[in-house]
Amino acid sequence: MKDSGVDGRIIELFRSGDGVVSGAALSRLLGVSRTAVWKHVKGLRAAGYLIEAVPSKGYRLLSSPKLLTQLDLSSGLATRRVGSRIVCLKETESTNQVAFKMAEEGAVEGTVVIADAQSAGKGRLGRVWLSPAGVNLYCSVVLRPAIAPMAACQLTFLSVVAVARAIESCTSLKPQIKWPNDILINGKKVAGLLNEMNAETEKVNFVVLGIGVNLNLRMSSIAESLLRHPATSLIEEGGEEVDRVAFTRRLLTELDELYDVFLQEGEGPVRAEWLERSAIRGRSVKVSQGEREFTGEVQGVDSFGALLVKLIDGTVETVLSGDVALV
Ligand code: BTN
Repeated sequence: MKDSGVDGRIIELFRSGDGVVSGAALSRLLGVSRTAVWKHVKGLRAAGYLIEAVPSKGYRLLSSPKLLTQLDLSSGLATRRVGSRIVCLKETESTNQVAFKMAEEGAVEGTVVIADAQSAGKGRLGRVWLSPAGVNLYCSVVLRPAIAPMAACQLTFLSVVAVARAIESCTSLKPQIKWPNDILINGKKVAGLLNEMNAETEKVNFVVLGIGVNLNLRMSSIAESLLRHPATSLIEEGGEEVDRVAFTRRLLTELDELYDVFLQEGEGPVRAEWLERSAIRGRSVKVSQGEREFTGEVQGVDSFGALLVKLIDGTVETVLSGDVALV
C-alpha cells in the first residue's frame, strides 16, 4: 500500500466504506484529532472533492475532481513497484517526455506520469498521438529492469497485456492485440503503446512505457483527416462511460503484477499470454517497412518481440519494426 498521507487515507476509507464515515471513526483510524479530520476534509474540498457533511453521522464522498489526481490513484493502491510515485499533470507536451526527463534525474522505479491532455503526444514512427483533455488516459511509467538493451523490447508484452486485461476487467469488451503494440476493438485501434529507452552498450538504465488509451473520446469530435487508421474508444464500442480512476488503477495493478512475473520468471509467461490474446499465429499478413512490402504467414514472435513471418519461399523473416496488416 502506498503512503499517500492523511488525505490519501481519508479517500481510501471513503472508498472502502459503504457510504457515510463518522468523524470519530476517521479520527480513530487515522490517529489524528477531530479538528485535524475537519481540516483535511476542508483541504480535500478545496482540491475539488465533493464531500457531504451528513448531520450527526459524518462525511460522505460524493465525487472526485474531474482531473485524475495522485490521491485518487495512489490511495490504497496495492502494488509493489508501479505507482511508487504518481505525478498528475493538467497538460503537458508528452508524458513520455516528462517521465524520460524525470528518469534521467533519478526518478524511482515505478514512477508514473499522467496528463489530462497532451499538446504533442508522441505515437510510433514519429507520428502524433491525439490527446484531447478530460476523456482519455495518457500515462508513462518508468522501469529500471537489470536487462540488456536488446531485451528491452520484451517490455512491450507487459504494457500490451496489462491494457488488454484492464479493458476486460472494466468493460465487457474483448480487446485484440495487433503486433507490435496496438490494441483493437472490433478491428479499430483503441490504445497505443510507445516504449522509450535510455541504455548503455551492456545495460538498460531505464525504460519509459508510454500508454495511451481512448476511454471516453467521442469519435465524432475528431476530424477524420486526423486519424491514420480506423480508431475508436471504449465508450464508442461499449456504450458506457469508463471510470478513468478505476481504469487507471486497474491498469497500474496489472502492469505491476506482470512486471513482477517478468522479473521473477523472464518474458516467457507474459509472451505466452500476448500470443494467446493476439490470435495472429498462422494468419497471413502484409508487412510494410517504408518502401519494402512483403506478405507471409505468421509463425509467432521471438523472445525479443520480433514477428516471425514465413515467406512464400519458406524462409522465415524476423520483423523488428514496421506496419502489419492482416490479409
Ligand atoms: C502508437 O503510435 O500507437 C503509440 C501511441 C502512444 C501514446 C502514448 S500517450 C502517453 C505516452 N505519451 C506520449 O507522448 N505517447 C505515449
